[in-house]
Amino acid sequence: MAESAANAANSARRNKTEDDITAEVLARFSGTSDPRLRQIMLGLINHLHAFVKEVQLTEAEWFQAIEILTEAGKMCSDKRQEFILFSDTLGVSMVVDLLDHRKPDGATESTVFGPFHRLGAPEMPAGGNIASRDTTGLPTLVSGRVLDMDGKPVAGAVLDVWQTQSNGLYDSQDQDLDGLHMRGKFHTDAQGRYLIRTVRPVNYPIPSDGPVGRMLKAAGRHPWRPAHIHFVVSAEGYEPVTTHIFDRTDEYLQSDAVFAVKESLVCDFARHETPDAEAAGLGITGPYLRAQFDFRLTAATSPQSTVMDAQRRLAALGAVA
Ligand code: BEZ
Ligand code: FE
Repeated sequence: MAESAANAANSARRNKTEDDITAEVLARFSGTSDPRLRQIMLGLINHLHAFVKEVQLTEAEWFQAIEILTEAGKMCSDKRQEFILFSDTLGVSMVVDLLDHRKPDGATESTVFGPFHRLGAPEMPAGGNIASRDTTGLPTLVSGRVLDMDGKPVAGAVLDVWQTQSNGLYDSQDQDLDGLHMRGKFHTDAQGRYLIRTVRPVNYPIPSDGPVGRMLKAAGRHPWRPAHIHFVVSAEGYEPVTTHIFDRTDEYLQSDAVFAVKESLVCDFARHETPDAEAAGLGITGPYLRAQFDFRLTAATSPQSTVMDAQRRLAALGAVA
């Protein structure tokens, strides 16, 4: 008797739908006590479930996604960050950048950090050469000032600089190279000035030998980034800025694989046939380029965790050296 009543109740109960599952998962996370984590988890579940339903994801495709993420994880090391590459090529990094680094007009705009920064770049004097082992690139001087929003010089600002060699490879990608190269930390003088010697930045393809490369290929996208130099500029009492300067003549400015070009960061690299006194004093003997770029920092508002803090946490995981 009891058994047949239960059977009747069961057959009356409708089958679970996909929306029932979504509602159940949301309910299960709705007690998350940290309000920000709760907001993020509920938003993530809503959007993730909506996405799966919208594209009617098959089980085979779900397995493929698991394989892709597993492969991405296995590729991450002290020299490679495939997840950052996914974020960058999907445009997520730049959306986060725009949301989290809204700047007043005139402040230096930020852009992607990318996966190739390394901690421990050597301290360099003004005019120090980050490209000391690059024998093929055109010598290039990058100079300018670090200023506050009133145009006053910021003395003692630190510019953490990194760039590919003229073969288009970062030091960590170059099998023929040991240690750090094309990296340096520069300090501004009392007038806020800095001066960096390097070689002409080149355009280069982001690493394409993993799942990100396969995604780009399948989507008919190229992997190229326009020529640029990376900077993290920081100073006591100011918001640090993670940014690049881009070569105005580059053919990939309009189609950067990671969507990171902002007009205000595009810069002239002017060619000079003979060195002036400053260039000669730095050992430049022939044609060279000069780029001029001033950074404008905003005052620090609240103590924030910086990109370098995140970098240190990744390094502690063994993910980025
Ligand atoms: C870079 O400029 O180093 C970079 C940024 C995003 C993805 C790959 C490389
Ligand atoms: Fe780069």
